[in-house]
Amino acid sequence: MKSRIVLKFFGAFAALILIIVFVLSFSVSLRLHEHFEQRITAELRSNAVLVGDILQTDLIEGRFEEIRRKTRRLADKLDLRITVVESQGRVLGDSEKEQSLMGNHSDRLEVIKAIENGFGQSTRFSDTLGLNMKYVAVRVDDGDRILGVVRFALPLSRVQLEIRIIYRVVMFGAIAAVIIALIAAYFVSRSITLPIRQMRETAQQIAKGEFGRRVRIKSKDELGELAESLNTMADELQQKMENLRRLDRMRTDFVANVSHELKTPLTLIKGYIETLEDRAMDDKKAVIKFISIIKEHADRLGHIVDDLLSLSELELSDDSVHKSEFDLKKLIDEVSLGFGHALAEKKQNLTLSTQGDDFSIQADRNKIEQVFANLIDNAIKYTKESGRIDISLCEQDQAVCVTVQDNGIGIPKEHRDRVFERFYRVDKARSRELGGTGLGLSIVKHIVLAHNGKITIESELNKGTKISVTLPKE
Ligand SMILES: Nc1ncnc2c1ncn2[C@@H]1O[C@H](COP(=O)(O)OP(=O)(O)OP(=O)(O)O)[C@@H](O)[C@H]1O
Ligand SMILES: [Mg+2]
Repeated sequence: MKSRIVLKFFGAFAALILIIVFVLSFSVSLRLHEHFEQRITAELRSNAVLVGDILQTDLIEGRFEEIRRKTRRLADKLDLRITVVESQGRVLGDSEKEQSLMGNHSDRLEVIKAIENGFGQSTRFSDTLGLNMKYVAVRVDDGDRILGVVRFALPLSRVQLEIRIIYRVVMFGAIAAVIIALIAAYFVSRSITLPIRQMRETAQQIAKGEFGRRVRIKSKDELGELAESLNTMADELQQKMENLRRLDRMRTDFVANVSHELKTPLTLIKGYIETLEDRAMDDKKAVIKFISIIKEHADRLGHIVDDLLSLSELELSDDSVHKSEFDLKKLIDEVSLGFGHALAEKKQNLTLSTQGDDFSIQADRNKIEQVFANLIDNAIKYTKESGRIDISLCEQDQAVCVTVQDNGIGIPKEHRDRVFERFYRVDKARSRELGGTGLGLSIVKHIVLAHNGKITIESELNKGTKISVTLPKE
């Protein structure tokens, strides 16, 4: 299982290498064999010609004793058998055997050919020596007259011995080539399969839930691309998992928050009612006071439930937005007017400036009103007395942008991105004291997004906060 693919690659390489080496060494041996035989023949032939030259005068003058003597001596030196035959086939001299005991040689193939063409050769069993022999014969002439034939003979076993040496060399070469090629093939197949195995292991680890695992392969080929795709997939998976976990956490937090937010006023209401039941019933003044407190908390409960309802309405349906055309500047003017009392109480100053002249948009009037009511409410709540709130409107090509800026307490960096979450408050106690539940900005964000708009926040602690909303005109 572990190296099945290595085996496949390696097997294919090995088979290929063996076939190539076999074919190559077979044809090389064949060629060498041929070449070597030709070389031996050529060498024997030129030596025979030389011997013929040496014996020429003796043959002309018929010095047979001399011929016999020289034949023996030369054969000894050349380490082979020499036979001298006259043109009619009578043996004049032989290095191995007494020539008088040898029969007529005119029927020998190599002798016939030599007399005919000047050169002849044959391989056959020698009756004289009882061995397989290679024969080479050349004709010796004196002008047009044929003097005779000089024949060399070499045991075939000696020729074959030399050829066997060649075979051995070729075989050793082939074995060495096979070994080297197989080692190379092993490393090549490993280099291909190693990244594949690495990727498989990484994929398994990711599947097991180790989403941070990545493949480290830098090659530029298809394997590198595959590794990159795998890493991209892992990135996306990790991102999605984190989002899921975050959502899950938010959901749990949400349920806890809702329960807590609803429980606080309910507990208070219950407490006041019990007090009333126990002893305050008779004191009319106290009854009125308690009832008004109870009403206040009931109102608060109502607010929270309203906020939750509008949030879930925004989240659940896409068609909760009922658009109509209206002037955004007019709307903001009206909303600001509604905060006149709160502003006066904190001696705060609200200004509205514009850039451009057409601020009419197609949007859900009630919801946009809710957006700016929330933003202005926050600006007032989280800014000290005598603070400033500046609202500016600017007209863009396809959109209108509004910024609500205050010089209030600001939001610490680590909380900035989270204030849009449901129930998220920077300072829980203080915000609750001011009547906040932390739902305002999350409703604002939902409404803006439902209108395909954008909302961003800039804030510095103790300097102020600036919230920018961009709404498309249509
Ligand atoms: N202009 C601002 N300056 C400083 N802090 C702000 C400002 N606006 C919002 N915040 C912080 O962000 C938190 C979340 O705001 P959000 O409007 O969602 O809730 P809230 O005002 O506490 O309650 P709610 O708006 O539901 O009555 C606030 O509790 C406050 O800490
Ligand atoms: Mg608010």
